[in-house]
Amino acid sequence: MLVLAHISDLHLDGTERATERAERVRDRLWGLAGRVDALLVTGDIADHGAEAEYEEAARLLGLRDPDTAPFPVLTCPGNHDSRAPYRKALLGGPAGDGPVNSLHVFDDAAVLMCDSSIPGRDEGEFDEETYAWIEATLDDLDGGLPALLAFHHPPVALHHPLPDAYQLGEPRALAGLLERRPEIVGLITGHAHTPAATAFAGRPLVVGPGVTWTLRLPWEGEGVADRDAPPGFAFHVLDDEGRLTSHFRVA
Ligand SMILES: [Fe+2]
Ligand SMILES: [Fe+2]
Repeated sequence: MLVLAHISDLHLDGTERATERAERVRDRLWGLAGRVDALLVTGDIADHGAEAEYEEAARLLGLRDPDTAPFPVLTCPGNHDSRAPYRKALLGGPAGDGPVNSLHVFDDAAVLMCDSSIPGRDEGEFDEETYAWIEATLDDLDGGLPALLAFHHPPVALHHPLPDAYQLGEPRALAGLLERRPEIVGLITGHAHTPAATAFAGRPLVVGPGVTWTLRLPWEGEGVADRDAPPGFAFHVLDDEGRLTSHFRVA
């Protein structure tokens, strides 16, 4: 059984508000040392993609000095992130503008952190390099190992005009991948700033809440961003039957 904590959309911008909210969630999670297997951070870590914002993220999430985080912290970029400073500050290099994809293998499952960002754009897409990386990575894994894909842009409409305008493009390509790859048992995303559960190509698709603000749905009233809502996070449990169960919390 794998227990993953999940945060998304910190939008660190150097303001006290953003820092305080991220620290509040971080402190809750760090208190779970030994009981959580890893923390997933699904993009929009920085608000402007500035190096100073990533320096803060690295400090806050213990990314540069792994001893300060009680479990592995796995990240992927979002549309507000910028690959070069992200790589430099969060990963310690090497430089490069290609997609930032990474694999973490646990005893019973693998998590693929995939880059769905398109530099300079708000909508998302997996480029050819990322699709090839996913296929090659799964080929290299032990055949029966269940895998989760985590990335920023949901590939479906969530019934709000803002995130629905900036979804993951070419969803049929992702659906085709899932058809070929039964070992992918679930999809975990961010971007929409609303905790949501749906399905895509026969797999559970879970959208994590935002740390920075919460999306106000069209039937909830005026204004897109509820900035008074507390920062959210999630726990995802992948059990021995390959079933993904998600719990949502606020800090
Ligand atoms: Fe965001
Ligand atoms: Fe986003």
